[in-house]
Amino acid sequence: MSTNEVESGTGNPFELPPLHPSLFNPTDQERRFLRWAISPDDETVKSRVFQIGKEAYEVLPYPCIHAFHYTCLYMRENSVYNELLDLANKYPFPPILLDLGCLMGTDARNLIRDGYNKSGGQILACDLEQRFIDLGYKLYQDGPESTHPTPIRFFTGDIFKMSIAPPTEATEHGRDLPQNLTLDGVKGKLDFVYAGALFHLFDEPTQRDLAFRLARLIQMPSDSSGQLPDAIIFGRHAGLDEEGYISGHFVGGRWGQRYGHSPTSWVSLWKSIYTELYGHEWVEENIQANAVMQRINTKVKMLFWSVRIKRSYRENGIVWKRDGSDVPLFVGGT
Ligand SMILES: C[S@@+](CC[C@H](N)C(=O)[O-])C[C@H]1O[C@@H](n2cnc3c(N)ncnc32)[C@H](O)[C@@H]1O
Repeated sequence: MSTNEVESGTGNPFELPPLHPSLFNPTDQERRFLRWAISPDDETVKSRVFQIGKEAYEVLPYPCIHAFHYTCLYMRENSVYNELLDLANKYPFPPILLDLGCLMGTDARNLIRDGYNKSGGQILACDLEQRFIDLGYKLYQDGPESTHPTPIRFFTGDIFKMSIAPPTEATEHGRDLPQNLTLDGVKGKLDFVYAGALFHLFDEPTQRDLAFRLARLIQMPSDSSGQLPDAIIFGRHAGLDEEGYISGHFVGGRWGQRYGHSPTSWVSLWKSIYTELYGHEWVEENIQANAVMQRINTKVKMLFWSVRIKRSYRENGIVWKRDGSDVPLFVGGT
């Protein structure tokens, strides 16, 4: 989704361009995925995709629905994707990945096809809107009541309602996920977090807040004996060559302004989030952030980015200074 996509309407956010099947142009890779996930028959795929698109567009007319992005596989285009699959399969325990703002869960389902869960890794997928999750079940016919329910654990949640307080039970047992998933319930228990086309819905301070919250979702060691393999937060969203506000409206999102980071400012943002959490020295040794601007079609440029976190314990205690006070990040973390 981009300014250009938004501006393909009339400029009035309430006059929406109609959905049109001619805009559904899957790549070869996406076509193979859709044949695997929906039907080997391309006509069946097409009519199901279009029907679901119409229903989703009525829920919220996101430009990415208009552009059929809910059938795209942008997660796998991230340069860290293969590295993540390798890492996941070498973990000493089954890793947990969350796709936040999953919409219908296409990227998450493709992770299964690409073997993420070969060694038991779990995939969680969360969205603000249960109706999008339900449309995903309808698109792929793999809901809980179906004959082949997806192993992905879908749940609803608003990331901005998750408490930003430090997780209090990041012990070994802290990895156990609650029966009923909530964002607060998975906070501090995750190894990989993906956010596709989410950040660009918001203004600059909200993007910073969101990044802080994603960092909170990741499990960190609660003592020096707790060895954890690297964690990764990654995603993609509209960016600008020079950071600044993106002009134009965004249909269906918050009505505020949308910020576009540049690759440089995006990397700086992540370093400053982790500096706020663990200090400058720790960041130099433990954070590897990367962002690349990529043109995804003639009009749209997106930042594809990743933050790799070496989860080393901070010797003299991990502190959380957001509210001006120093609070131990984890029980036993001082
Ligand atoms: C533009 S779609 C992106 C979908 C998909 N991740 C992708 O890469 O195409 C953004 C999704 O984020 C969800 N979303 C928006 N605000 C959210 C929030 N505060 N918490 C969780 N999900 C949110 C929306 O419901 C929508 O499904």
